[in-house]
Amino acid sequence: MTIVVPDADGLRRAVELLHRDSVVAFPTETVYGLGAHAFSAKAIAEVYRLKNRPSWNPLIVHVPDVAAARGLAEHWPDAANDLAAQFWPGPLTLVVERARHLSAVGPPIDTIALRVPAHEVALKLLDAAGLPLAAPSANRSEGISPTTAEHVLRSLPDVPLILDGGPAPWGIESTVLDLTGQTPRLLRPGALGLRALREVTGAIALPEEVVDGASRSSPGMNARHYAPKATVILAEDVSKVERGGVAGPVAVLSYESVEDFSDDLVAEVLSVDPREYAADLYAALHRLDDAGVRTIIVQAPPETEEWLAVRDRLRRAAAS
Ligand code: TXA
Ligand code: MG
Repeated sequence: MTIVVPDADGLRRAVELLHRDSVVAFPTETVYGLGAHAFSAKAIAEVYRLKNRPSWNPLIVHVPDVAAARGLAEHWPDAANDLAAQFWPGPLTLVVERARHLSAVGPPIDTIALRVPAHEVALKLLDAAGLPLAAPSANRSEGISPTTAEHVLRSLPDVPLILDGGPAPWGIESTVLDLTGQTPRLLRPGALGLRALREVTGAIALPEEVVDGASRSSPGMNARHYAPKATVILAEDVSKVERGGVAGPVAVLSYESVEDFSDDLVAEVLSVDPREYAADLYAALHRLDDAGVRTIIVQAPPETEEWLAVRDRLRRAAAS
């Protein structure tokens, strides 16, 4: 396993592996992905094996442009056209009906999730490989998504090659939108906010599960996910959490302007801006794990739409 610079030689080695039905980790603007030829059964099986990913969970396919995306879809709805024109390349994944002549990417479902990543290295790789690349986040299933090449190396040491593109700029996964029904439906809140999406599509259906975590609609959605090794406690008021009752060492993950927890042995203070907070969140969780922390008490962010994706990830990290 090697971390390589994404220069001409690095890209050539990556393409060679992809053409041999092997896998390559690469940077995107959201998180690092574990890439594989989307329609190679062998390569896809390797992705599931390396990640220990449950077989029911389908993969996102990355393509270089809208035309390539359309080619993999049976129907290309108007909403997909409008959204792609506005947000691609970018952190938005669109679920549409899969072209019938293509095999399913993962479980046997009729849909396909597509996105054009906004990262120079990802686009160069797609171009050089000339293949649609299925790429889940490059981490063991249920772990924290990687925002650096080192995170990938630690989570998936058996990946043959990692292209190093530096820290992923958004640091949180793409927003996943289902366009197969009447109204676009949010499947996963992510980097791209709902306000921007609504300006293009109008109303978006929000599953209750996404909004408040109350109902657990789809299978596996309540699984512990995006979780560090430490136990995560999500608290409305961090200062009220009884420290004696939890396993130590204890760390606090908070954000600016809440309260000063500098008395704590380990404290991570992130930005009060939801985009900046999201960009640093996974790296902070990785750091706390590395520091050997056993319990992370997280100050719950505000219940506003801007924080939807961050709250979703924190809630899953805290699920047992
Ligand atoms: O930002 C991202 O989306 C990153 C980078 C690497 O592109 N990828 C990523 O992949 O987060 P992954 O596998 O960790 O998450 C993919 C999500 C899962 O929740 C999966 O269930 C959903 O997309 N998904 C994939 N295909 C789908 C489909 N056909 N229908 C519904 N959901 C789908
Ligand atoms: Mg993932």
